[in-house]
Amino acid sequence: MNSASRLRLGINIDHVATVRNARGGDTPDPARAAKLAQAAGADGITAHLREDRRHITDSDIDAILDVIDIPLNFEMAATDEMQQIALRHKPHAVCIVPEKREERTTEGGLEVAREENRIAHFIAPLREAGCRVSIFIAADRRQIEAAARIGAPVVELHTGAYCDAHAEGRFEARDAEFAKLKEMATLALDLGLEVHAGHGLTYDTVKPIAALPEVMELNIGHFLIGEAIFSGLDSAIRRMRGLMDEARQEASGVTVV
Ligand code: PXP
Repeated sequence: MNSASRLRLGINIDHVATVRNARGGDTPDPARAAKLAQAAGADGITAHLREDRRHITDSDIDAILDVIDIPLNFEMAATDEMQQIALRHKPHAVCIVPEKREERTTEGGLEVAREENRIAHFIAPLREAGCRVSIFIAADRRQIEAAARIGAPVVELHTGAYCDAHAEGRFEARDAEFAKLKEMATLALDLGLEVHAGHGLTYDTVKPIAALPEVMELNIGHFLIGEAIFSGLDSAIRRMRGLMDEARQEASGVTVV
């Protein structure tokens, strides 16, 4: 496998902060998790600073940036407050996500097609500051075409519907969601976009997504933080990395020995 086709793994450490915040206090520390993820082979750290600060806080972002040498992918809603914070830190990457206070997690993709002008203006200063801007969207032709029109260099395709269908045993629906992801990954690449994917991925669902040659990066969090309770974070990340590599090698016809 050449390095150009190596799939990157971004580890989302938000839910280390969720556990910490359940009690208040300092532990477990998301920056420590970020450092450990780096040591386990993560290519980047992803953290979502939500408007309500329900998990990651402003000081977590400072602390994470202090301890990691790999890129930070800063997830944020398209608000003025978050834009200012991103412009202050100038992280390697910024991922624009939709955000609703009442949701438990990021439930859908960004409505970029309906808000094309606003999002185009919103991302311009971030791009000028040198951040690699990615837009988190559903595997939907309208959204992908809109993302390309506004000059977003990267789209992250939301894999939540595919993963949910798998978890609920709705295998026909899962396969239909997968077919959509595959088709839209091809479309995005044809339109010149770099393609990432994430949300809800587990050991059971990661391989078909990792096998898609268009996909350059996966961002995975909740499942790995949960697995860390049983096997440790290092082992959970290494196992996920191993499955991704296996899928990539199988897809390219290289036998894994
Ligand atoms: N990518 C994006 C844009 C996300 O918002 C999230 C969740 O915060 C993830 C990836 C990771 O999803 P999960 O925690 O379900 O693995």
